[in-house]
Amino acid sequence: MASRIELRSDNAAGVAPEIMDAVAAANTGSALAYGGDGWSARLRERVAEAFEFPDVAVFPVVSGTAANALGLSALCPPWGSVLCHESAHILRSECGATSMLSGGAVLRGLPGDGSRLHPDGLAAAFAATNWGDNHQSQPAALSLTLPTDLGALYRPDEVAVLAAAARHRGLAVHVDGARLANAVAALGCTPAELTWRAGVDVLSLGATKNGALSTDAIVCFDRTAADQLVYRTKRAGHVASKMRFQSVQLDAYLAGGRWLELAAQANRTMARLATGLGHLGLGFVCRPEVNMAFVYLADDAAERAAAAGVDFYRMGPGLIRLVTSFQTTDVDIDDALGRFAAALQVR
Ligand SMILES: Cc1ncc(COP(=O)(O)O)c(C=O)c1O
Repeated sequence: MASRIELRSDNAAGVAPEIMDAVAAANTGSALAYGGDGWSARLRERVAEAFEFPDVAVFPVVSGTAANALGLSALCPPWGSVLCHESAHILRSECGATSMLSGGAVLRGLPGDGSRLHPDGLAAAFAATNWGDNHQSQPAALSLTLPTDLGALYRPDEVAVLAAAARHRGLAVHVDGARLANAVAALGCTPAELTWRAGVDVLSLGATKNGALSTDAIVCFDRTAADQLVYRTKRAGHVASKMRFQSVQLDAYLAGGRWLELAAQANRTMARLATGLGHLGLGFVCRPEVNMAFVYLADDAAERAAAAGVDFYRMGPGLIRLVTSFQTTDVDIDDALGRFAAALQVR
């Protein structure tokens, strides 16, 4: 029987070999706990270099949810609200973690085509706010998912416009970058251009979906937020005693631009898949720009493709999600396309 082809999630992928090797190499002797080790010091230097921001603060955490909720808790008071797209992971899929860790902040989902916020939508949200009215949560932070939950992108100039509008009303700016590497690789910009140079204060930097073993990080470009996060991460149980094994993963991830090479492989294989699916006559919710595609596929064809060994998520009637990872190969994609073609031709 033919092997199954993994297109469910980049979370289903394994660990990049150089990251596994780096963890093993760090497993020598003893090291000071709670981030007092040499690997954690080196990580800060590595992030400062990758983001061209010497005063950066970095907090390794075990999940993207923790990075988002803790990062936002440092930007939004308990009576505040976080503005985000109505499809945002922080709103839909994190079980209220931001509200809990911020002590009560409200998430306000805004509409916007293709899972992206637009300046008009933000302006409308501001116009609908009763500023200074203590009966209403006061907008305190804007959170952009980049790439978005449907795999669309904001360019650096688009982030800058939204961030400037937010800043104008006194809001801080957060980016959920669970797949930031995929965005940077696809846009061909620098990490700095897409983040702090565009006005971002706090970034959730994903790594696990793109080859790390067990860590993401909060990357802070704002000193006040960083000062709070020293305590907030500890209170939330996110200061690992053996932090060296998290830090070394992130260090190996960023070293020599490896994170962008891993993401480029995922993006490239998705582009190949999307082109092939287009040739089969299938349509997309929005044009896949990174490693995710939301594809309209009749349920009977989806069932046949799944039975033929293609693994993917069903998002609802007639809609599936396909995700590639750094482990996906051209051979996987051509094989998957053959199975989709067969699934579509069966009457
Ligand atoms: C856009 C986005 N943000 C955040 C997360 C949360 O990551 P985790 O599952 O590690 O908490 C995910 C996970 O799928 C995601 O897709």
